[in-house]
Amino acid sequence: MSQHEEEYTDSLIDFLEVVWGEGYLSPGGAEEVSRILEGSDLRGRHVLDIGCGSGGIAMELVEKYGAGRVTGIDIEDGVLARAASRVEARGLLDRIILQRVDPGPLPFDDASFDIVFSKDSMIHIPDKEALFAEVHRILAPGGWFIASDWLISHDGEPSREMKHYVALEGLSFGMASPDRYRTALEAAGFDQVRMINRNPWYVEVARRERDAIAGELYQRACAAAGKDVVDHNVDTWNAMLVVLESGEHCPHHLRARRP
Ligand SMILES: C[S@@+](CC[C@H](N)C(=O)[O-])C[C@H]1O[C@@H](n2cnc3c(N)ncnc32)[C@H](O)[C@@H]1O
Repeated sequence: MSQHEEEYTDSLIDFLEVVWGEGYLSPGGAEEVSRILEGSDLRGRHVLDIGCGSGGIAMELVEKYGAGRVTGIDIEDGVLARAASRVEARGLLDRIILQRVDPGPLPFDDASFDIVFSKDSMIHIPDKEALFAEVHRILAPGGWFIASDWLISHDGEPSREMKHYVALEGLSFGMASPDRYRTALEAAGFDQVRMINRNPWYVEVARRERDAIAGELYQRACAAAGKDVVDHNVDTWNAMLVVLESGEHCPHHLRARRP
C-alpha cells in the first residue's frame, strides 16, 4: 500500500474523465498529445511516462506512436488500478509496464530510457532541479525529454487569485516559472531546450470546459462523480480562469535533449 495520501480520489478521477475523456486526467486529449509529440519519432523506443495517471496516454504512445515499450509511473494506487485494467483490456500488458513509485529519485538505472515523457504531472513535484537531474540521468545519450506541465509566470509570492485557485484545487501543487524550468534543465545538462507557452490555448479551452461542466456535461458528471464534486469544480474552473486570463497560470510544452 502507498504511504502517500491519495489526492486523485475515485470521484475526482470519475469527474476528470467525464471532462477530459477516459484515461485522461489533463486537458486536450489525443490532439494535445500529438502537438506535444510533434516531430518526435517514438517507434520502437523505450519511453518513461512520469505521472501516467489512468493510462490513456501510455496506451496512445504504444498504439498510435509505435513506442516499443512504455513504463508508466505514478505515486497513487487509485489511478494505477484504472490504468492497469485498461491496459489489460486492450491486450497491451506486454508493452506497458505500470509501476508505483515514491516521490523522489527515480528507481531506474542510468541511461534506461530513449524518451522521458510527462503530461501535466510534474506540477506535483516541487524540486524541479532534482527532478531534471534524475530525468537526465535515466535518459540515454541523445535521448529526449518531451513534456507539458502547468507553470506559474513568476517565482515570487503567488497572487491572491492564484492562492485561491490552488486552495480550491486541493491538490499538492509545486509550481515554478518558465525561467526556473529552463535553468534547471540546463543545469542538469540538457541542450536544445525549447519551451512553448500554452496559456493562450488553454484560456480558450478552459472557458469551454467550464461552460460544458456547468452545462451539457453537468448531469453526466453529477451521475459519475456526485453533485458536490461537480459544483466544487465549477468554482475551481472559475477561479482557474482568473489566473489563466491574467497569464499567471501558464501551461507550457517542454522539450530538451540529453547530449
Ligand atoms: C493531472 S494528472 C495527469 C495524468 C496523466 N499524465 C494525464 O495527462 O492524463 C497528474 C498525475 O501525476 C501523479 N503524480 C503526482 N506526483 C507524482 C510523482 N512525484 N511522480 C509521479 N507521478 C506523480 C498523480 O498521481 C497524477 O496521476
